[in-house]
Amino acid sequence: MALPSRVMTNDEIAQMVDTSDAWIRERTGIRERRIAGAKDSTATLALRAAKCALEVANVSPADLNLIIVATATPEYLFPATACLVQDWLGAENAGAFDLSAGCTGFVYALSLAAQTIISGAADTVLVIGSETLSRIVDWQDRGTCILFGDGAGAVVLRASNMPGGVLTTLLRSDGSGGELLALPGGGSRYPPSPTTVLNGMHKIHMNGREVFRFATRVMAQATRSVVEDAGLTLEDIALVIPHQANIRIIEAAARSLGMPMEKMYVNIERYGNTSSASIPIALCEAIESGRIKADDYIVLVAFGAGLTWGAATIKWVPTPPPASPLEQRAHAVRYWWAALRSAWRRFWRRLESRLKGPATASEK
Ligand code: COA
Repeated sequence: MALPSRVMTNDEIAQMVDTSDAWIRERTGIRERRIAGAKDSTATLALRAAKCALEVANVSPADLNLIIVATATPEYLFPATACLVQDWLGAENAGAFDLSAGCTGFVYALSLAAQTIISGAADTVLVIGSETLSRIVDWQDRGTCILFGDGAGAVVLRASNMPGGVLTTLLRSDGSGGELLALPGGGSRYPPSPTTVLNGMHKIHMNGREVFRFATRVMAQATRSVVEDAGLTLEDIALVIPHQANIRIIEAAARSLGMPMEKMYVNIERYGNTSSASIPIALCEAIESGRIKADDYIVLVAFGAGLTWGAATIKWVPTPPPASPLEQRAHAVRYWWAALRSAWRRFWRRLESRLKGPATASEK
């Protein structure tokens, strides 16, 4: 995982809009969130998380066949953030694309990665959830600006003969609720213009109450469904990692499932809602704190803009031993080499276009 170092407390937000630390804590469970600094972006956070994941998995970027970045705040509309990460990692043998499914993006990407591996089309896939929501939040709207934060998390999925890994997934969408959570400006419907900027159309628009109602309905349903599909019962599940949007939504899901809150992983108080990044960040922390052990069954469950929702049941397989200091140094050299190669390609492309002039008919 990768988080910006800047912490923004509720008290700071209370200086910008009419709210209070007590209200935010009580209604959302959030105490503070991380905010991207001037040098941070969705791609740089994604890269940091990706490097950590590759190191933990002890996988070389050259072994990657596919890189998926789930994000609602891509670096650009295009090229894809995933392509930037591919270049910076020097993942020469990988395809790369971004996936847009709101806060459910990571679960969608994980499902896609698992199916791609099962089909035999790929062996090793890097899945990243990365967001800089602070850049699209309306800092004058107290209904939304209190909720969101920035960060990234990543996992490496690899084909294996060992039973386990991603067992079942569920992906759903109800586009009729699209306007409940949207960033309307900047796309082909409302291209950027002074009017779209003046009307705040490049910021998050949300109907909080309706999203809340939708979320409490689908979280428990989706969890039940993937657990049953895996031939398991809720008692078999060691930990549920829910999308971190609002503590009351997580509590409602736990109540509906009849599960104790101890089985729901919660870190919303420190990071707020980091959209596609919330589940991989929580997963990372859950592993580091020993909440997930080898052979545990866990559930990831999320909802978000679209509307979308989804869940996955996973049997956690033992994590391989981390890279040795020597291997870590080899990784560092590889990244340095990748940067050099990328710079050389840019230079060569410019030189070639100067020397050759416009593309000839045969080249076209
Ligand atoms: N501080 C103080 N008061 C606030 C406030 C804030 N930050 N935001 C809203 N209020 C006020 C409202 O104006 C309203 O006042 P009124 O009764 O005088 O009209 C009152 O609090 C209750 O508003 P309501 O919208 O019903 O609050 P809520 O309990 O539903 O909490 C959210 C608002 C946004 C925290 C909650 O609806 C939510 O979390 N929704 C889901 C959003 C989400 O998860 N989005 C991301 C999906 S991936």
